[in-house]
Amino acid sequence: MSHEPADFPELDFTGTTPYEDYVQADLLTHLQHPLSDDPGELAFLVTTQVMELWFTVIVHEWQTAGGCLRDDDAPGALDALTRSTYELHALNASWEPLAHLTPARFNAYRSALGDGSGFQSAMYRRMEFLLGEKSASMLVPHRGSPRVHAELEKALHEPSLYDEALRFLARRGAPVPEAVLGRDVTRCYAPDPGVEAVWAGIYAGDPQDLAYRLGEGLTEVGELVWRWRNDHLVATRRAMGAKTGTGGSSGVAWLEKRAAKQVFPELWTARSHV
Ligand code: HEM
Repeated sequence: MSHEPADFPELDFTGTTPYEDYVQADLLTHLQHPLSDDPGELAFLVTTQVMELWFTVIVHEWQTAGGCLRDDDAPGALDALTRSTYELHALNASWEPLAHLTPARFNAYRSALGDGSGFQSAMYRRMEFLLGEKSASMLVPHRGSPRVHAELEKALHEPSLYDEALRFLARRGAPVPEAVLGRDVTRCYAPDPGVEAVWAGIYAGDPQDLAYRLGEGLTEVGELVWRWRNDHLVATRRAMGAKTGTGGSSGVAWLEKRAAKQVFPELWTARSHV
């Protein structure tokens, strides 16, 4: 029996608390196993785990948006895209604990990471696949994890969010080239002048039009992903200069090439023609 005042929260539960049953905080807060004795490593590990969780939510939003577009439900798609932009802001804000690492501080636990690299993040890869950045070879590192591999393989064969957006525009009468509509969706999306012309036409029109708002929703997503890549690049440059990556790439030079790419390319180039 509790002797607390009547407006005090409930204290007596027969089993685990309903909060614990829902959040699984006990499990979540015992998934941190640093590999070194360095006190700075926990923040590195938790930031990485937090980012994995945001990747998971964002993948869910973009899948929702793609499904809505397939059903010609543009408001539903816009809602999911808008939610994902709030989440992308939260994701990007989580760089802060890692944005000021010096090489000496990073070195204190870097060797403990062995060959581990964010490059091997399957959930990040699913985000990239949804953006149209498909690549069958990105499945190779995951051969040892059947569930992860199966999810990635499925994602490889599904149309990306951008494919769904272009198909939606075509059903509304936009002249999206047949070659784009029928493209092999397992391949990386390549910019097309016909698609650029479609977006230029939309952007010359009514800002309240659903296609225009879809263009802006996707642009916002594209910009925030580009910001994540660039924040990652700068954090890496500060923490390790031009050293080789733990994943085996040239490091910063490789990340610079990745960060230079535009997400949803024609949404950016079309602006020169409006
Ligand atoms: C300051 C800390 C970090 C450094 C120095 C760093 C360094 C690197 C480097 C050098 C690469 C290139 C691949 C390689 O050779 O390893 C890479 C890739 C990657 N990292 Fe990080 N990283 C850091 C933090 C993070 C965090 C917190 C995440 C969150 C999950 C992350 C996710 C990724 C992803 C997804 C890639 C692949 C990018 C792509 O495929 O374009 N990194 N990182």
